[in-house]
Amino acid sequence: MSYNDNFIKACRKEQVDTLPVWYMRQAGRYDPAYRKIKEKFTLLEICKQPELAAEVTMLPIKKLGVDAAILYSDIMNPVASLGIDFDIVKDVGPVIHTPVRTAQDVERLRPIDVDKDLSHIIETIRILDKELEVPLISFAGAPFTIASYLIEGKPSKSYIRTKQLMYSEPAVWFALMDKLGDMVITYLKSHIAAGAKAVQVFDSWVGALSPADFQLYVLPTMERIFKELSHLKEPKIYFPGVSSGELLPYLHNLQADVIGLDWRIPISVGRERVGERFAVQGNLDPYILTAPMHVIEQQAKAIMDDGMKKPGYIFNLGHGLFPEASLEKLKDLTAFIHAYSHSVLTQ
Ligand code: CP3
Repeated sequence: MSYNDNFIKACRKEQVDTLPVWYMRQAGRYDPAYRKIKEKFTLLEICKQPELAAEVTMLPIKKLGVDAAILYSDIMNPVASLGIDFDIVKDVGPVIHTPVRTAQDVERLRPIDVDKDLSHIIETIRILDKELEVPLISFAGAPFTIASYLIEGKPSKSYIRTKQLMYSEPAVWFALMDKLGDMVITYLKSHIAAGAKAVQVFDSWVGALSPADFQLYVLPTMERIFKELSHLKEPKIYFPGVSSGELLPYLHNLQADVIGLDWRIPISVGRERVGERFAVQGNLDPYILTAPMHVIEQQAKAIMDDGMKKPGYIFNLGHGLFPEASLEKLKDLTAFIHAYSHSVLTQ
């Protein structure tokens, strides 16, 4: 098989004859082969074994027929290099041993040292670069989303401590944003140097902010991150997470190539809000995967018809896959997206 670069072409808004598709969290517990590996090792243990992490990354490629791989890792991995101890607790998520809540806590954070602390991740990328026949997407968590875990100490619904710090101690907040921004820039540059063909910044929880607070407390750091990466030719994706539709009009200065959309906004509306410069990616409601296949296909078709109106569209879910999703349905959905989009795009 020859190298399939439809995903990269779509990121650059070039014409394709078949829509590229990949799924956020495509390596995960819906796959029995992944569950078997997870019986022996935790997520962090897998990440520390480059051969195994590369194998897990590749599981969905052949099985589902997707057009891009996403590095098997977690948004929390790089914070270990800043001196933060954490666990990923089953069915909970990241739990921080000593939350970051004061000026001193922020001061204590070390600059990221990829060579010293994260060489296993670089090695995984190098292995994948040799073996993959589709582009490898690497990723980082965005400063707001990482900060929400560091400050709350665990996943939160209200982000109460995060907002409290942001509003009451802006100097501490911006110092933290600066440090996490530096972390993301250095980390992603090292991934591209090792062979990643695109990068995605996950800001999963930033939709918790009002547009005004997003612009004041978060956007400057996001603009800096993408500006610092803008000299690199590899496409850059910003995913502003769930419920982020009202934030989209403020992204026009971001030097990213693609914006990820969640399912609460139609593709064409999202496109209009971010502006013509960007390609867009998304946005099937992942929980529709519990529906009968004809319902899934009907919804996927409507999204594709909207997305294919212009070049620069990548099919994905509006958020990550969940453990109860069906491997068979995902495989059928991927084949359906390829067949249907090919029939329309080659008309
Ligand atoms: O997409 C992929 O297949 C690549 C791997 C990947 C993981 N985490 C592995 C993982 C990616 C891209 C992430 C990103 C990530 N991690 C995000 C951003 C994406 C999103 O969903 O919004 C966030 C918020 C996290 C933090 C995190 N890690 C959470 C909330 C959880 C869920 C806890 C649970 O048990 O449901 C994790 C754990 C995690 N990271 C799992 C995987 C496959 C599931 C648990 C496991 O298999 O060990």
